[in-house]
Amino acid sequence: MEKKTLAKDAWGSRLGLILAMAGNAVGLGNFLRFPVQAVQNGGGAFIIPYLVCFLVMGIPLLFIEWSSGRFGGKYGNHSTPFILDTMGKGSLWKYIGVFGIFTNIAVVAYYTYIETWSLSYVLHTMLGTFEGMSQTQVAQFFDSYISIGSNSTGIPYEPVIFYVLVLALNVYILSKGLGGIEKAAKIGMPLLILFGIILAVKALTLGESGRSIEFPDASAWDGLNFLWTPQFDSLLNPKVWFAAAGQIFFTLSVGMGTIQCYASYLRANDDVALNAVSAGFMNEFVEVVLGSSIVIPIAAGFLGLDWVLENAGFGMAFQTMPFLFQQWGTTMAMFSGVFWFGLLFFAGITSSLAMGTPWMGFMKDEFGWGMKRGAWSFGLLALIMGLPTVFYYHLGVFDEYDYWGGTVSLVLFALLESVLFSWIFGINRGWQEITDGADIKVPNVFKFIIKYVTPFLLLLVFIGALVTPQGNDWTTNINNLLSGQGWELDNGSIIRKLSLYELKSQLTEAKSATDRDLIEDKVFYANFARIQLVVLFLFITMLVHIANIKRTKLLAK
Ligand code: TRP
Repeated sequence: MEKKTLAKDAWGSRLGLILAMAGNAVGLGNFLRFPVQAVQNGGGAFIIPYLVCFLVMGIPLLFIEWSSGRFGGKYGNHSTPFILDTMGKGSLWKYIGVFGIFTNIAVVAYYTYIETWSLSYVLHTMLGTFEGMSQTQVAQFFDSYISIGSNSTGIPYEPVIFYVLVLALNVYILSKGLGGIEKAAKIGMPLLILFGIILAVKALTLGESGRSIEFPDASAWDGLNFLWTPQFDSLLNPKVWFAAAGQIFFTLSVGMGTIQCYASYLRANDDVALNAVSAGFMNEFVEVVLGSSIVIPIAAGFLGLDWVLENAGFGMAFQTMPFLFQQWGTTMAMFSGVFWFGLLFFAGITSSLAMGTPWMGFMKDEFGWGMKRGAWSFGLLALIMGLPTVFYYHLGVFDEYDYWGGTVSLVLFALLESVLFSWIFGINRGWQEITDGADIKVPNVFKFIIKYVTPFLLLLVFIGALVTPQGNDWTTNINNLLSGQGWELDNGSIIRKLSLYELKSQLTEAKSATDRDLIEDKVFYANFARIQLVVLFLFITMLVHIANIKRTKLLAK
């Protein structure tokens, strides 16, 4: 390595950087969220919009974020508030950059909780907890696990203890700086891909051999056919497009500020174009090839496609896989369980580490905090935000964080940054930043796409989510609007979510006092989660404000 790079923080090697970036992108989203999204949006109907979104939003945003990050790094900025500040005019942009720290802390709070499940499930597999359990018992195990209390292991508060341990592990690795992240990625990524390939081969060769008396029609092929038979009629359904765009954001980690942060540790003339494309395609390989070849075919092979369609959800992999593995005999069950939950754990931790870096970079740039202090304070913030998700998981705190922090914020931030990049920083300068030092020739059409197509589509996605019409039926609602009958919102629209419309209407329909109590609790905890999020956002805004005052004073001297 050249001497001069030692003066500032930088990645150790190009391989380390790409693995770290791929580790950032490859996460629970690839193995748990993607299959569910695909199933809920019609399987083969989902894949085409998904791939189109990858090309016209995913890749352009990767270019934007990688090059903005490297640009910020040249001025010693390692988090979005002041990266955007150097790119934009006026004082507003640094506050928009708050999203690039906020999202990460909001998401890490619940993301590390799923990491926690994965780690405990590795342990339970090794302890043989799932041996001899029926499908119902495996599902019940998960339910009692997340409702805290005492459960079958005899460790009271097991998830809480493991949650704190997982956070501590994240903090420990983060306190080692970029080197720690690179090391975690160099160990985690190859293992994850290896485990993934083994499980995918197992799933792809399962065929009809998983049938049982209860599910005599089950076949792994049904699952694969469902995913891979394209259905062109869905191209006209906006709901499928929104879901596809949302998944592309989440899985590539765009709109979150982590890519800018990682890229800010590049050197001024390092390539961004090829790196961005490589890390992006690596993520897509893991998602589209491995992610789609495990949970769905295995579940369809044992329980049938109808069951999968009915039960698709985040917990599905935890509620079913241990049972399905058992059917392969004790030894194979042990290996598969450790591979599968180990894979999830590695996928998770290389992403949650990324979530720590914008905060640490910011505190270092602005307040001179070292790695240790940065990492521990991040852990503390994650814990404060996270304990409510752990304790009140079933009351929806988790979902509130995921919706506001992990979904709405991403789209909004990506929209704003793409406008900044093309229209305020200027597409010509932006294009220069993308192509400078590039090891590939970026097709010129991307200049056009980045300037017009990406921001326009992002705007469409955002407005679409804001005012989603009843039943996602745009045609009927637009006709209604034109004929003066007004616009009926869907309960899933941002506006209705904001007013907790669905919960409140359930409240008026509740039949018994216990039902009503439960819903009232949910309303309470939804509000509680929102207050946490708002306070977090304001807290970071205040830090940015203080940092800005410090900077202005320095300039005046
Ligand atoms: N891309 C990751 C996944 O697919 C999730 C992720 C990584 C993320 N970094 C993030 C989410 C930062 C929010 C913020 O699972």
